[in-house]
Amino acid sequence: MIPCQRHLFDLPGDIAYLNCAYMSPLLKRAAAVGAEAIARKCRPWTITAADFFADSERARQLFAELLGASAETIAIVPAASYGLAVAACNLPLAAGERILVLAEQFPSNVFTWRELGRQRGAEILTIARPPDGDWTTAVLAGLDERVAIAALPHCHWTDGGLLDLVAIGERCRELESALVIDATQSLGALALDLERVRPDYLVCPGYKWLLGPYSLGYLYVAPQHRDGRPLEQNWIAREASEDFARLIDYSERYQPGARRFDVGERSNFALLPVGIVGLEQLLAWSVPAIAATLAARTAAIAQRAAALGLTSTPADRRAGHYLGLGFPQGMPRGLPERLAEERVYVSLRGASLRVTPHLYNDEADVERLFAVLHTVL
Ligand SMILES: Cc1ncc(COP(=O)(O)O)c(C=O)c1O
Repeated sequence: MIPCQRHLFDLPGDIAYLNCAYMSPLLKRAAAVGAEAIARKCRPWTITAADFFADSERARQLFAELLGASAETIAIVPAASYGLAVAACNLPLAAGERILVLAEQFPSNVFTWRELGRQRGAEILTIARPPDGDWTTAVLAGLDERVAIAALPHCHWTDGGLLDLVAIGERCRELESALVIDATQSLGALALDLERVRPDYLVCPGYKWLLGPYSLGYLYVAPQHRDGRPLEQNWIAREASEDFARLIDYSERYQPGARRFDVGERSNFALLPVGIVGLEQLLAWSVPAIAATLAARTAAIAQRAAALGLTSTPADRRAGHYLGLGFPQGMPRGLPERLAEERVYVSLRGASLRVTPHLYNDEADVERLFAVLHTVL
């Protein structure tokens, strides 16, 4: 178990921030590094040609370490939708084939596939929410030879409902279906065994569980797709772009590995140093230790909530860092107002409350949440 790390964040004592799934706070050190990074642009003569590569490569390497991959497999992207668009642009899909998604999946991971389906005459197969919370069995039942692409999260963004990506990955390979993973709500807080899942693509924006800034994320590209077509043709993704004097010797070849898929202006001088601090800290804590600590925290919250009559997905069917509390009698009147008054930050989604703590939370935060619940229930 990792002890409370609140001292590393700028969280006032009267704020109970239990909403990492919405957006993580930056580490204080990341904010300081970010201020320096912005200030550098006031002195552009201090930014060298080598700087266009150094931080991008460092961030690529750290994200790869977190994922258990090599830096060669990672592209830098600004959003989940961008990474998903790279996958959509490169995966084979014939008329009449299917793209499998979950009910109430995050929109970036739905609209991408609806559009591709329209272009190719393919259909979307939406797996209904299983009443027993067992998404894995439901997905395996939906997977057959008609499914060309399974576009899935590791856990459902509404309530943390967990998918066994190893079993799903195996089935996808048997069927020769592509597996595209949106790890936005899991990577950094939930271990993923890349060697066993073997996704075709995996995307993860950095501003939630990677403790990074907005607009900086990562795309894993499996070896068989690394010769694919990038969404755009930017100069730095080309071979020998390090040599600024020779950029107009236009090379038809790309930088090695997945770098060809990097978004234009990926050498983001303001954001990369900030993202790097978050990734370094996660690696120092280690994902299994983060996951175990957060799982204990949410289990305790779920247990106390159950005593108040609130429901949640059983612990073995949800991601440990992620909790959705259901109100069987409907959302209590006045709950949003009471939460706001007490400065308790969670997400309200329909008739459920999404509670997503991180290592900066302490017992006092949990007490504040329950103080509010007690007054409205
Ligand atoms: C599951 C999931 N995917 C992706 C995103 C963000 O998508 P994008 O980076 O396309 O804005 C979110 C944001 O809440 C999310 O919950």
